[in-house]
Amino acid sequence: MRHLQRIESALERAVKRAQARGAPPRLAAALGHAVFPGGARIRPQLCLAVAAACGDDAPELADAAACALELLHCASLVHDDLPCFDNAATRRGRPSVHAAFGERIGVLCGDALIVLAYECLALAAGSQPQRLAPLCTVLSQRVGLPLGITAGQAWECEDRCALPDYQRAKTGSLFSAAVEMGALAAGHPPQQWRAFGAKLGQAYQVADDIRDVTADADQLGKPAGQDHHLGRPNVVAERGLASALAHFEELIDQASAALPAGPAVPLMRALLRSEAERLLPPDLRVIRPAVPAEASA
Ligand code: IPE
Ligand code: IPE
Ligand code: MG
Ligand code: MG
Repeated sequence: MRHLQRIESALERAVKRAQARGAPPRLAAALGHAVFPGGARIRPQLCLAVAAACGDDAPELADAAACALELLHCASLVHDDLPCFDNAATRRGRPSVHAAFGERIGVLCGDALIVLAYECLALAAGSQPQRLAPLCTVLSQRVGLPLGITAGQAWECEDRCALPDYQRAKTGSLFSAAVEMGALAAGHPPQQWRAFGAKLGQAYQVADDIRDVTADADQLGKPAGQDHHLGRPNVVAERGLASALAHFEELIDQASAALPAGPAVPLMRALLRSEAERLLPPDLRVIRPAVPAEASA
């Protein structure tokens, strides 16, 4: 089965399990809304690509790892969109979860997705129980404190933060988890993949910052111009647009150079290149009339 199909069916199984008889209907519906239809599914794809590069000897566990990563990502988006964070009414071209179901369900939906992610891993660990602890450890470290997504979001609540620390935590951390968990699920040590994941994650957030000023809400499927509007630290404000674009290319090159040697390298390089082009296609590199950072530079 192709990777995207494996990811969608693992997600469907997990969400259906949570929505089974007895679940409160509004929260059950919100869970489905948060996960389907998905976005790029880049984190689980990375996880399965690395698992494949490592032999993928326990595909059920790799699928569970991919599924757990995407569920946590969806949870982070549901919480990120809440009125107390970014107050975003749209996500993936539709109403965000709290816009559709209310704020209390939004909070609970994020919580339920986080728990579901760990349940997926636990349920799939039967044939390789010794791999469960390292998988859970990596996932927890990349999501929690001191350096995971939670820390990244929390830096927004401080008076000051260093942009690289903020971006590494809020976005880079789950990309690192994706590659590390792909290796771990296939019984390989994760260390040699870490730098690749971290650089790609950084590039991804740089692209998100660029698109925030160069694309519109229809293209993004979520509100545009948010970093300026919410006063979030971002790479366009710090460097200006031209330098941010150059930085993105630099990070993609660094990610490519960080790939460990092996027969999977050409495939991973191709994945990286197509991802870079998807993130910043030429038509999204056009500067909108009012670019806050350039205007104030
Ligand atoms: C959005 O992530 C939030 C960031 C960390 C930049 P994605 O761009 O991967 O969102 P989806 O899953 O494709 O919607
Ligand atoms: C989201 O960051 C990162 C998360 C951990 C959810 P942003 O707030 O920059 O992402 P978007 O632009 O809303 O997707
Ligand atoms: Mg945010
Ligand atoms: Mg946001």
